[in-house]
Amino acid sequence: MTLRKICILGAGTLGSRVALQSAISGFTVSIFDLKQASLDSALFTMQKILRQLVRGGTLTESQVPEILQRIQPTLDLPEALKGADLVNESVTEDVAIKKSLWAEVGKLAESHTWLTTNTSYLLPSQFAEETGSPSRFCAFHFHDVFYSRVVDIMPHPGTDPTLIGVLEKLGRKLNQVPVIVRKENPGYLFNTMLMALLGAAGKLITREVGSIEDIDKSWMVNFHMPMGPFGILDSIGLDTAWHVTHKMSDSASQAFAAHLKTYIDQGKLGEKTGEGFYTYPNPRYREPDFIL
Ligand SMILES: NC(=O)c1ccc[n+]([C@@H]2O[C@H](COP(=O)([O-])OP(=O)(O)OC[C@H]3O[C@@H](n4cnc5c(N)ncnc54)[C@H](O)[C@@H]3O)[C@@H](O)[C@H]2O)c1
Repeated sequence: MTLRKICILGAGTLGSRVALQSAISGFTVSIFDLKQASLDSALFTMQKILRQLVRGGTLTESQVPEILQRIQPTLDLPEALKGADLVNESVTEDVAIKKSLWAEVGKLAESHTWLTTNTSYLLPSQFAEETGSPSRFCAFHFHDVFYSRVVDIMPHPGTDPTLIGVLEKLGRKLNQVPVIVRKENPGYLFNTMLMALLGAAGKLITREVGSIEDIDKSWMVNFHMPMGPFGILDSIGLDTAWHVTHKMSDSASQAFAAHLKTYIDQGKLGEKTGEGFYTYPNPRYREPDFIL
């Protein structure tokens, strides 16, 4: 079956990016959120990314209006799902929120619609039943979409194997590199490795072993990377990182979650709010003299 319309649930950091790439790749896109403010800020983010892509020569100025026209932001879930060939859910990383939304989607989605989640650390089997159609459900997990272009395809034991092929093809069409996670694993492939790095950086900061800048510099210089673990955390969102760490029972994760919470309580969620460990749009680690 040819996919034409993609429905994105959640217009935050990731939902806005997946929606934009889907429109760039020629799909009709609906993007649903509970809050008008999220839809407005998603549009702002998309316009910013489009300007960067035009500046970088990936797109031409004349393509921009037609790309934006393909995106329909909405607060109306039935409208968003109408005629959708595939859903990708990017709402808050909280199992209760996801379960309740999927239960609603399960009742409303058309019988041909493939159902996917972009969860970072939960497993698709944790809410497959809620979809009402577990065989049509699979994790389809993006990273940053434009800069980090791996997309994980992670079925749960009841996923229809046809969907894996559909998602591999779709992943390539969305300009991503698809990888298949053969067994359900919290964190897929890359995030499992990333968690080890971020957890180690968290331990270093909560035990006051080094400064944020020096920890980042150590990683950036040795691995020739454009950002270190705290720059990465800012781009992920400190709230999303907290949702993951505060559920881990070990004392190091609990200490790091408490540390993240002090930033969250001040409204410092990272790049999306203009401040986290660094301030944006010009964080210190992007300045040429940072690693000197
Ligand atoms: N931030 C990342 O780098 C990243 C990367 C890959 C995957 N993810 C995953 O994507 C999902 C979203 O993360 P994010 O960083 O975009 O979060 P975010 O906080 O930026 O956005 C979440 C959005 O979901 C909306 N929302 C909450 N409940 C909703 C509901 N019931 N119906 C519709 N919208 C609802 C919120 O209003 C918000 O706009 C999470 O599962 C996360 O693990 C995040």
